[in-house]
Amino acid sequence: MMKTIFSGIQPSGTITLGNYIGALKQFVELQNEYNCFFCIVDQHAITVPQDPATLRKNIRSLAALYIAVGIDPNKATLFIQSEVPAHVQAGWMMQCISYIGELERMTQFKDKSAGKEAVSASLLTYPPLMTADILLYNTDLVPVGEDQKQHMELTRDLAERFNKKYNDILTIPEISIPKVGARIMSLQEPTKKMSKSDPNQKGFISLLDDPKQIEKKIKSAVTDSEGIVKYDKENKPGISNLLSIYSILGGKTIQEIEEMYKGKGYGEFKADLADVVTNVIKPIQEKYFNLIESSELDDILDQGAEKANLVAIKTLKKMEKAMGLGRKRK
Ligand code: TYM
Repeated sequence: MMKTIFSGIQPSGTITLGNYIGALKQFVELQNEYNCFFCIVDQHAITVPQDPATLRKNIRSLAALYIAVGIDPNKATLFIQSEVPAHVQAGWMMQCISYIGELERMTQFKDKSAGKEAVSASLLTYPPLMTADILLYNTDLVPVGEDQKQHMELTRDLAERFNKKYNDILTIPEISIPKVGARIMSLQEPTKKMSKSDPNQKGFISLLDDPKQIEKKIKSAVTDSEGIVKYDKENKPGISNLLSIYSILGGKTIQEIEEMYKGKGYGEFKADLADVVTNVIKPIQEKYFNLIESSELDDILDQGAEKANLVAIKTLKKMEKAMGLGRKRK
């Protein structure tokens, strides 16, 4: 039988080159070999304050981007999390078998709550919801970037705990992290990951940036004073990050690129990289701007929610029965 994939992206802010390389690009390749569910996880986005009108805009925008990068709705199921109620229902059940201590140990929780006075309870209980997202589809494989590794380990722990405590009904999912590009770094602080919530716009490239912005951001990317295009993550994090991006988007190995720029400075390398990035992003944007205004996108999302609901409810019912929720009919 065809194996199942589930993955999700938060519709918070603009989707970055990091999201594309770490997640979306993989999705497009995997959709031919797997039964895929790709989700716009809007309920995850509200764990931090969101402006309602902007959130709605971002949800639609992310849906259009999924299609624009090459997700084929005839092959993969694309849907919005809040349109499939089983996610929060199963999420609650997963919360009930999670321990506060293990949730407090999540580095993403620590990072997002550090120094804040009002931290929402949902920021802490976010991982059990992510667990539910995945388990509802009997998922075999979850393609994500490296920053989701800890959440995935917890997902596996919770699924195993549920199976042991109740009934052995949940599939234990494997994580799939790309070999190169699992952690694209900020262009301004190359020891930090590129993030869509970075207040410094120069730190990330959005999939919707125009060629001028892309060129500017790459030209002002932080490097070093050595002037040698060489991969050395420890000592040259800036150039190494740019080399990874070039390699993945330009379809060349790091060694090939190092060879190409031997004796040349960072200026030429950066100008060419800007072209490489623009060439990938341009056709995505063309498709995106056609889709965003169309009702075709609504049809795709309606059908996606319908398909997702069918599968999710089945698992939810099994989980409820295993945990003893509901009643036995006479
Ligand atoms: P999110 O929305 O932060 O990111 C979406 C995907 O992009 C990857 N990613 C990166 N990859 C490489 N370099 C980067 N700089 C970079 N930044 C982000 C992420 O690893 C992710 O794969 N919790 C998830 C959303 C989620 C989910 C799920 C994922 C909710 N439920 C179920 C998988 C399965 C998140 O916040 O991703």
